[in-house]
Amino acid sequence: MKTDKRKVALVGCGMVGMSYAYAMLNQNVCDELVLIDVDKKRAEGEAMDMNHGLAFSGSNMKIFAGSYDDCGDADIVCICAGVAQKPGETRLDLLQRNAAVFKSIIDPVTESGFNGLFLVATNPVDIMTRITCALSGFNPRRVLGTGTALDTARLRYLLGDYFHVDPRNMHAYVMGEHGDSEFVPWSQAMLATKPVLELCRQSGGRYCSEELDKIAEEVRTAAYKIIEAKRATYYGIGMALTRITRAVFGNESSVLTVSAMLRGEYGQKDVFVGVPCIVNRSGIQRVLELNLSEEEQARFSASCETLRESYAGLKL
Ligand code: 2OP
Repeated sequence: MKTDKRKVALVGCGMVGMSYAYAMLNQNVCDELVLIDVDKKRAEGEAMDMNHGLAFSGSNMKIFAGSYDDCGDADIVCICAGVAQKPGETRLDLLQRNAAVFKSIIDPVTESGFNGLFLVATNPVDIMTRITCALSGFNPRRVLGTGTALDTARLRYLLGDYFHVDPRNMHAYVMGEHGDSEFVPWSQAMLATKPVLELCRQSGGRYCSEELDKIAEEVRTAAYKIIEAKRATYYGIGMALTRITRAVFGNESSVLTVSAMLRGEYGQKDVFVGVPCIVNRSGIQRVLELNLSEEEQARFSASCETLRESYAGLKL
């Protein structure tokens, strides 16, 4: 029986999943969190550890280790399970292994009677989100991936530093694959309501588009550098998952660059890819179509093609 409690079922209690859980606990994002992992003892230990911290948080979230049967009345099933990149691996290198993992997850989730939203973080996230949609048969608007939400946050952080403003006043997006073919449509980037490219032109050389391109490259390679340094990334993606979850539970209709199915937008079909979307309780309410330049549209189309080719090569 559905109640108005905000319930999340988390599949995969590794560092990404538990960073998400920990961020949700501290931001009081949901009322109930069930931890599901192939290693049941791990899930039980994580639940215990989280519960022991509850008294220090402003939350009274119910946290427990459970099974797929507990997904039936969940509002969101978040999937973080799968193998993560090793140093030198691309996200696309993980595809065949994680597709096999997802085949063992999606059926038991749907068999539980779950009819909420899927939220996918496992890489390569755009294709894993498409696999989730294909295996579950859910309406694509109820199947979201973290897409380039984290990349966009990285971009805003770096732009805030470059222009010496609060990153929240930087309105710029990373679009495309959450991976090597992602790009920044600079023609659409704003500092408050000032086009960033105009700011550069009028800055007398203080700001320049060459530096912007370096920032875009720093975003594109950020994960590789973090993985080289500390073996994995998890805090950033855990907070990106939390941000998306807040937009759903708060019925915010916020614009987030999640991985969404395109059905003609940007001239693209049959692909899940990072684009600015309006996210609320229904999932993806709408894909926003930005006025990309010819060059930006070409980069976006190429990124979509990379994703379609990788999906086509998959043995599901
Ligand atoms: C990240 O970008 C690895 O996709 C993960 O941090």
